Amino acid sequence: MNVAVIGTGYVGLVSGACLAELGHRVTCVDVDPAKIEKLRQGVMPIYEPGLEELVKRNVANGRLSFTTQYEDAVPEAEFVSIAVGTPSAEDGSADLQYVFKAAEMIGKYLKRYAVVADKSTVPVGTAERVGGIIRSVYSGEFDVISNPEILREGHAVSDFLNPTRIIIGSPSERAADVALKLYSFLDCPKLVMSPRSAELTKYAANAFLATKISYINEIAHLAEELGADIEEVAAGIGSDPRIGKDFLRAGLGWGGSCFPKDVRAIRHTASAVGHDMPIVSAALEMNARAKQRVVSRIENALGDLKGKRVALLGLSFKNNTDDTRESAALELARRFLDAGASVSAFDPAAVIYDADLEANIDRKTSAMDALHEADALILATEWDEFRSLDLAEAKQKMKGNLIMDARNLLDPEQVKKFGFVYLCVGRS
Ligand SMILES: NC(=O)c1ccc[n+]([C@@H]2O[C@H](COP(=O)([O-])OP(=O)(O)OC[C@H]3O[C@@H](n4cnc5c(N)ncnc54)[C@H](O)[C@@H]3O)[C@@H](O)[C@H]2O)c1
Repeated sequence: MNVAVIGTGYVGLVSGACLAELGHRVTCVDVDPAKIEKLRQGVMPIYEPGLEELVKRNVANGRLSFTTQYEDAVPEAEFVSIAVGTPSAEDGSADLQYVFKAAEMIGKYLKRYAVVADKSTVPVGTAERVGGIIRSVYSGEFDVISNPEILREGHAVSDFLNPTRIIIGSPSERAADVALKLYSFLDCPKLVMSPRSAELTKYAANAFLATKISYINEIAHLAEELGADIEEVAAGIGSDPRIGKDFLRAGLGWGGSCFPKDVRAIRHTASAVGHDMPIVSAALEMNARAKQRVVSRIENALGDLKGKRVALLGLSFKNNTDDTRESAALELARRFLDAGASVSAFDPAAVIYDADLEANIDRKTSAMDALHEADALILATEWDEFRSLDLAEAKQKMKGNLIMDARNLLDPEQVKKFGFVYLCVGRS
């Protein structure tokens, strides 16, 4: 099938490359010429395991190409996937300007019946609005479906090629059939529903997962008070299949490019129809507390932060990604800098987009360099390599002896053997 993918970010690039891998002819469009130029030269604009080989293989076999021009991609496409960003607006709603611009451009260049799919995470009713925009510039036949993406950064290629389900929110049987044909090579349940249900499904899933993390953090804080160990409690409750093991990692709370903005957006959608969401609101409140509690415990242990040197291991919002959008680690860095501390940091992949933080965080190329002369070490992102940190060397490098393990990566008994004061989450 001929496919156009609009946007070559984490979702667009991965889904475009994977659809080419499945045998489709895919043209990816992005308004960022620097990104397209990089991709044409075989340089990945993002860090995502397995992506580079996939892109290079499919470019070489002629099934994947990149352009800044909609007219190179849209006229021939049977399926046009919109995968542009939908960041938070000031009021917490999803900012749909990129989706609507993409819709206008698609409408301008459509030449045949095509299915236009909202793969971006968009509020209920967006498929209808996208349809309206296209109709205002194109008089031919088309359908707009909601086809929310479920991949996770760090596992994106494998998630796309081995999905647990595909959601197709379609206004017509004809459009659903095109989407089912596109994904016919993928063996998983394909749930066909209305566009509105599909749009709500995506937000409901992300809000549920965020709430699950907030819940385990709430129990972790209680465990600290009661002398229980949250790792043991999480293993205990997670072994109940009704609860499940995933998303029961206590720590610094959730961040990233999806959960914060999507949780805010579903609350905004709800308030627009006069509906409050007490559970989702509590998840947000608990998430703020999870970060604040880590900061307060470090302040209590170090005293005044002014003039102190804090070493952060990890800056990305989770392991195996360079993405730092709404990263809890960066929020900690900002708070320490505001309190007058200096911040050194090591992360194997993170890209800092905030110019102020980029200028003020002393980025190092190894964990040990970041620890040099530090008063405190904070494990802020769960990169695997931090689990096997050389604690003897760390002790020598640091000026102080405080470790705040905000992701519960280390073995408390081991850490104490080296003379550290060890703080972690939910383990007394
Ligand atoms: N990142 C994830 O893990 C993930 C997972 C599931 C769903 N989503 C959703 O997918 C959407 C995209 O997320 P992302 O992380 O890939 O975003 P991103 O910011 O990484 O990529 C968006 C891309 O779209 C391009 N773009 C913007 N306007 C454009 C236009 N008019 N025409 C062509 N290209 C344009 C940008 O230049 C950028 O390269 C969001 O709605 C997000 O919520 C993201």
